[in-house]
Amino acid sequence: MAITDIKIVRDYIRMCSDGWEQGWHERNGGNLTYRMRPEEVEACRPFFTGPGAWTEMGVTGASLAGEYFLTTGSGKYFRNVALNPEHNIGIVEINGRGDAWRIVWGLADGAKPTSEFPSHYMNHCVRAAATNGAYRVIYHAHPANLIAMTYVLPLTARDFTRALWQSATECPVVFPGGVGVVPWMVPGGADIAMATSELMKEFDAAVWAHHGLFCSGPDFDTTFGLMHTIEKAAQIWVLAQSAGQGRLRQTIEDDNLRAIAKEFGVTLNEKFLG
Ligand code: 13P
Ligand code: ZN
Repeated sequence: MAITDIKIVRDYIRMCSDGWEQGWHERNGGNLTYRMRPEEVEACRPFFTGPGAWTEMGVTGASLAGEYFLTTGSGKYFRNVALNPEHNIGIVEINGRGDAWRIVWGLADGAKPTSEFPSHYMNHCVRAAATNGAYRVIYHAHPANLIAMTYVLPLTARDFTRALWQSATECPVVFPGGVGVVPWMVPGGADIAMATSELMKEFDAAVWAHHGLFCSGPDFDTTFGLMHTIEKAAQIWVLAQSAGQGRLRQTIEDDNLRAIAKEFGVTLNEKFLG
């Protein structure tokens, strides 16, 4: 028995491989964190090696103090995760103040959690609070079409949400709350972590201008599915804009969006309609 035989670790690794196969993780691009359930921590504990030293995050989130997270390593390639989990991913424990992590498994030979761990951690705090603890996954990727949109559309939640909702009929069902947009910021620090987590109070997903996308969800399937749906819609948007040379003959109108919401029993973020 190895730690990679434990279902949650296996499922986490599978999601990394799936993201790589989609082309969303060039080089070390993107990162994935999962907030572990107590029974998952206990299943993994026999394999714990550390603990390493406490390292401050530069952000504080008291609500998830003491929790354990699976995380990808900084500078590590999603492409390599399945081949060599111990060197590319790890488990970190958060301290009692909620402002530092220490490695308890993996990230071997001096590796560290993703440079975006502050953003992930603050997003986890906000999404867990907003969903009564249901949300456990934060996923950051570099999907090309969505990034392309950030060069063309105004960087507002309204512009991005409407463009994406109108690009595929399923979109308003998958993300009825819409998406937030963070303007261009230096990645990897406390400032972008706070800006993103502020948006995550309202949205399941936040666009990072000229960089990528953050998605949140209760499990790997839902979170991967959200990334996939948004990027597919972005691809359709880019194709339609290119084919029509910026002019659309028709689209999904607001009344159509309302009809979808009614039929599927979801509540659309009204401020993006009309
Ligand atoms: P890491 O390799 O530190 O996870 O950084 C990748 C990335 O996408 C930064 O935004
Ligand atoms: Zn990135």
